[in-house]
Amino acid sequence: MNINGRHWRTIGLDEGGRSVWVIDQTLLPHRFETRPLTSLDQAAAAISTMVVRGAPLIGVTGAYGLMLALQHDPSDQALAAAFEQLNATRPTAVNLRWALERVRDRVAPLPPAERAEAAKAEAGAIAEEDVAMGSAIGDHGLAIFQQLAAARPPERQGEPLNVLTHCNAGWLATVDWGTALAPIYKAHRAGMAIHVWVDETRPRNQGASLTAFELGREGVPHTVIVDNAGGHLMQHGQVDAVIVGTDRTTRRGDVCNKIGTYLKALAAFDNNVPFYVALPASTIDWTIDDGVAEIPIEARSAREVTHIQGLLGEGEIGSLQLTPSGSAGFNPAFDVTPARLVTALITERGVAAASEAGLRGLYGG
Ligand code: MRU
Repeated sequence: MNINGRHWRTIGLDEGGRSVWVIDQTLLPHRFETRPLTSLDQAAAAISTMVVRGAPLIGVTGAYGLMLALQHDPSDQALAAAFEQLNATRPTAVNLRWALERVRDRVAPLPPAERAEAAKAEAGAIAEEDVAMGSAIGDHGLAIFQQLAAARPPERQGEPLNVLTHCNAGWLATVDWGTALAPIYKAHRAGMAIHVWVDETRPRNQGASLTAFELGREGVPHTVIVDNAGGHLMQHGQVDAVIVGTDRTTRRGDVCNKIGTYLKALAAFDNNVPFYVALPASTIDWTIDDGVAEIPIEARSAREVTHIQGLLGEGEIGSLQLTPSGSAGFNPAFDVTPARLVTALITERGVAAASEAGLRGLYGG
């Protein structure tokens, strides 16, 4: 997507193809910098400290992390240890395990000397597929947005479609396009009038920092709101649809996404606002039924609750304490929205009901 007129992806190979570069998302929106990842440890740290984040991008970074590990030591033991180290960095997004398993299964049967190159090819393939899936999700979501716009009463025809989103499920969370934001980009590029309510998404503010940054660079009209404003806007008819991403989708269509998503789904349900979840196949965990009971929820540092990061002035990025010294903080990073609150799942294969039958209808099995 666009940064100052140049097309960017979030991750790529350096010249020579032996190391990886990523956009450092901890500095956005205030500074746009890339940083190299040259070792397994650097790749693992980039995921756990959220230099890279978003379920699909975590997966691609993990895949390249295995390549970096195998360049150093292509043995069976090193492969297994690298898999475990990367898989432990963030527990909730299933894309990470999916991508690591895919690379491991591709390289494990090969002679050790061939493994690093094969890992590179597989990681590259995962990245390319991610871009294609984001674009296809965008096309399917655009069709829904067009239907919603057309179904509005005559006095509202021509007004922008008001879409609310939570966290960042845009191109920064993937390799390009994004999941939940892909239909918004497709709509904007197709000339459709669209306006996005951007939940700030405490505690790390991925909405206020990353989604607002992305939408601004693409010229999409948007307004940042505090997380608690969504229900009020829905009660007053100011939200036509909610669209979010997911870090893990169960076989029966429960979706696990950034903390606070569930509350938005409840408010949408109560106000008859359609609630869509956009996802690529790599986010489906076919081994799990009940998201609330079975999905591991990452607990991050309480410091993300007690402190807030921002621009302190003169280009300096730092953090401020919000809470009284000594107050405890608790920071569950994700929550689960039950399938019954989801209007539909928007995938790269089309739109499905949030149910096992819906998902099987698209993916078989
Ligand atoms: O903690 P993060 O920033 O990695 O969480 C990201 C999200 O919750 C996204 O909504 C999710 O990964 C879906 S993204 C395409």
